[in-house]
Amino acid sequence: MKIFLDTANLESIRKFNDMGLLDGITTNPSLMSKEEGNPKAAMEEITKIIQGDVSLEVVSTDYSGMMEEGRRLREYGNNVVVKVPMTPDGLKACKSLSSEGIPVNVTLIFSPNQALLAAKSGAKYVSPFIGRLDDIGQDGMGLIKDIEEIFSNYDFGTEILVASIRHPVHVIDAAKIGADVVTLPPAVLEKMLHHPLTKIGLDNFLSDWEKLKQKNPDTKI
Ligand code: G3P
Repeated sequence: MKIFLDTANLESIRKFNDMGLLDGITTNPSLMSKEEGNPKAAMEEITKIIQGDVSLEVVSTDYSGMMEEGRRLREYGNNVVVKVPMTPDGLKACKSLSSEGIPVNVTLIFSPNQALLAAKSGAKYVSPFIGRLDDIGQDGMGLIKDIEEIFSNYDFGTEILVASIRHPVHVIDAAKIGADVVTLPPAVLEKMLHHPLTKIGLDNFLSDWEKLKQKNPDTKI
């Protein structure tokens, strides 16, 4: 399973990329709006820091605007994936951009039928938003199961990119289903690193080592 970071925050991107954990990045206009500085420069910088796919989203809602923005975004880096919304114009742009060799991530997917149509339109990724479904009392992870089952019947080549992840249990469940990618807010990835017993265990090892050194002052590893 690939791990993407769902942020435009350069500090978090550098931190987790330096740990070797990141296969890609997803951004959206809301995430971009949380950051200071020049958005274009930030987008270009992200495409340089990260080797893998970087999803950058269009803000036009009509076909020709999406095509123009999609082609411009792709100039930011060879690893740019253009994110378009799950709308009729978005699917049309998905088909056209894909046929030009520009990979597309269709976002704001909330039903299996939307995922099926996005795959038929040549999307490299579909982004179902599971947390937002959970928020309204629907089964976000059930949607991932349904899309996984549908895609396994065919040969679309479209990857399921699980988005709107709220906590580490979402990640475990997505991995059990076999989703291709999870995109994680930095806080969720941070939580996945830790367990209280790891910290207690390490503290005990270190204090026992100190005791050993008091009896054998010259000991080194
Ligand atoms: O990648 C999409 C994701 O950012 C949406 O997350 O938490 O705004 O539902 P959220």
